Parts: sequence; structure tokens; C-alpha cells
Amino acid sequence: MSDKIGPYEVTELLAAGGMAEIFVGKKTGPGGFEKPLVVKRIHKKLLGDREIEAMFVDEARVQALLDHPHIVQIYDFGEDRGSYFIAMEYISGATLRWVIDNANAVRRPVPVQHALRIAGDVLCGLHYAHERNDDDGQPLKLIHRDISPVNVLVARSGQAKVCDFGVAKSEIQRVMTRAGIVKGKFRYMSPEQINADPLDRRADVFAVGCVLWELLVGRRLFDHANEDDVVAAIRGGNYPDASDHRGGLPKTIDRILRRALHPNRDKRFKNAREFHLSIEETLRLLPASSNAVLVGEYVSAELDGTVAEYSSRTQKRPLPEREDFLASGFEMLDPPVPLAPTMIALPPSAGGDDVDSEPELRPPPTTMGRLIGASLMAPAALFSGLGVGVERLIGLATGKKRQPAVRVTRTRQ
Ligand SMILES: Nc1ncnc2c1ncn2[C@@H]1O[C@H](COP(=O)(O)OP(=O)(O)O)[C@@H](O)[C@H]1O
Ligand SMILES: [Mg+2]
Repeated sequence: MSDKIGPYEVTELLAAGGMAEIFVGKKTGPGGFEKPLVVKRIHKKLLGDREIEAMFVDEARVQALLDHPHIVQIYDFGEDRGSYFIAMEYISGATLRWVIDNANAVRRPVPVQHALRIAGDVLCGLHYAHERNDDDGQPLKLIHRDISPVNVLVARSGQAKVCDFGVAKSEIQRVMTRAGIVKGKFRYMSPEQINADPLDRRADVFAVGCVLWELLVGRRLFDHANEDDVVAAIRGGNYPDASDHRGGLPKTIDRILRRALHPNRDKRFKNAREFHLSIEETLRLLPASSNAVLVGEYVSAELDGTVAEYSSRTQKRPLPEREDFLASGFEMLDPPVPLAPTMIALPPSAGGDDVDSEPELRPPPTTMGRLIGASLMAPAALFSGLGVGVERLIGLATGKKRQPAVRVTRTRQ
């Protein structure tokens, strides 16, 4: 079935969040011309809500000013049958949410170097956005405010891209957030954001810290069941080091994360660039390298289920001679790649899929513990409401061949 939104043919609903529906579509033209794209429009149930409409216009106006390889590019903005829509580049790949959930489900942690590369991309895009001026040369003072794994897309071409400027704050926005209203996903929020204090770019730095910790460990940093406990942990800087959960992780990475996640923003990286450069330095010292080619191969292999082949082609470089940098056993980080599909037991039916009631994803710190933990995590991911996870895991559990290029169809934190 196909439908039209403005001049664009839409074929598939990709995601439906609280505010918007996202479709895969294309622009067609003479001579068989076709350009795939994504169309985002305000959810039908919100049609006529002036505030939501104005926020959507703000989202489009801000994103239109951003032209960067690590930010999803907007092509067009228009109105169709009383509803605004945004047309933007289609990212063929997966959300970071999928990358993390998949890594848990197949019991293969995201390789450290790729986790760092992805975080570096996000920071690169964010720093560009933070620094952007308007056309009169005035600083936009843009803050994304909603960095989380669902708002980062990893393309099969290997670049990570920031999307969803739906609650971004900037000098050109027309809808002002009422005092005391907090926007964003609170498990990725800095203390100042939770306190509804005036924000600056360091709130995004904090959120990237949360995302990188989660990418490395495989579970949310602030994962407490109780919201008060989340808030207390964020405000108190009370959280374990990533290396407590992933044995052999270089201590440098813990130090970087502590700096990004400092509850006092004056002690944090002062901007995304500083954080990014620290990551680049660390990457240079790792035994395995990462770049867009390798991230693209990694993500595509995970999506297509061809990891065994991918891994045999990946050469590791020798360890650098820096004892203080690399903890022993670093090579143990990536468990062996299974050549046969992993059997995953299907659990009994679990609870709801509220974005704030994520299942426990708590891998124990030892290698054996990690494996056991991962086997517990897989069913959790399965029942967390992620359509793709269900599709892929059922395929795995039944030993069916995995289907390529699955897409995340739900919006989660
Ligand atoms: N350009 C895109 N290419 C591919 N998938 C996208 C794109 N934009 C959004 N998506 C998918 O749609 C989801 C929701 O998009 P987003 O802009 O974050 O909407 P919302 O404001 O509802 O959160 C994303 O998490 C992702 O899965
Ligand atoms: Mg989103």
C-alpha cells in the first residue's frame, strides 16, 4: 500500500512516538527517478494542537540550519491536509537502541572501539550544532536536550547521526518551555536539567556520557526502578565505573566517563569537542581501530547476521606498550563469535513496555558472569516491546535464518 504526504509517496510506517509518525517514503520523478527519504508528521491525534504544531515548526526550522554528516539532514517542510510534515534523509541502519539491545541479545558486547567511534560521531555533530550561528551571525545557543539511544541512528555506511530536534532549545525557537517544565528523557538528564535550571551545552555532554556508558556496558546507567533513586543517583554522581561491569576496559575510559558525567557541570568537559578529542586520543591507543568503514561493516553484519564472516576479516593490531592504559585481559572483551545461531530460551510473558520501566539489564562483572548475565538479558530485551528484537530473537531461538535490514519500529528511551 502506498499513500502520499505532500509530494512524497510513503510506503511504510517506521515509528510512531508520542508526538509524531515517521514513514519511509520516496520522491519520484521523470524517467524512473526515485529518492528514498523519511517523512515525519505530527501524530493525527494531535492535529489542531497549536502548541504541538509550533514545536514541530521549531524542530524543522532548527534542523534546517544544520548541515553536518553526523546530523540527520532535513530536505523539506510542508503541509498536507492540515498537517505539517518534515522530509529528511533516510538512514538505512539501526538506532543505537537497537545496536545495544541486539548486542545483549546475541551476547556480543559492542566492540569498545566502535562504541567510542559512535560516541565520537555524536559529539562531533553536537559540537557543530552547539556552535552554529543563525544567518545574522548570532549564536543559536542550540541544545539538543534529548540525546538518548533512540535519537542516534547508526547508518550502514558507518556514521552515527543525531536525529530528533523535537525538544531542542535555541534562540530561534518560538515555543518557550514554561518555567519548571522539564523536557527530554530523564534517565539521560543532567542534574541541572532535572532541576529545571537554565541549561547550556554541557547538558548534552552529560547525556552522551550516559549513552557511551550504556553502549559499553549494555545496560542503562541510571536504571533504578524507582524514579527518586534515579534522580538521587544523577544528582549525587552515584554510579559504578563502566569497567566494573565490563572487565578489562581501559581505566582511561572510566576517567573520561566520570568527567562527562560529573554532577557539577563546571567539572565536566566544557564542551562536546573536548569530550570528543579525549575519545579520539583513547581510540588511538586501543588495539583495534575503528572508523566509518569498520562501524558500517559491524552494524551491517549485526543487522544481516553475518558476524562470523565479518569477524574473520577483521585484523587486530598489536597491543601498544602502555601498561597503565590497557588493563590485562583486554582482548577478552569480545566473546568469541558464535558460528551457529545462539539458542535463546523464550521466557514467560513479561510486563509492559513503558519507556521508563525497562527490564533489568545488569551484566555481572566476571567473564562467566557476563555470559550468564547476557543470557538473562536476552529475554529481557525480547520482551521490552522492541518489534525488531522480537522478530530477530524469535528467528534466533527457532534457528531460522535471520532476515536482513530489519528496522526499529518503536520509539524507546
Ligand atoms: N531519518 C531517519 N531515518 C531512519 N529512521 C528514522 C529517521 N528519523 C527517525 N527515524 C526512526 O524513527 C524514530 C523516531 O524518530 P524521531 O525523530 O526521534 O521522532 P520522535 O520525535 O517521535 O521521537 C527514531 O528513533 C528512528 O527509529
Ligand atoms: Mg525521538
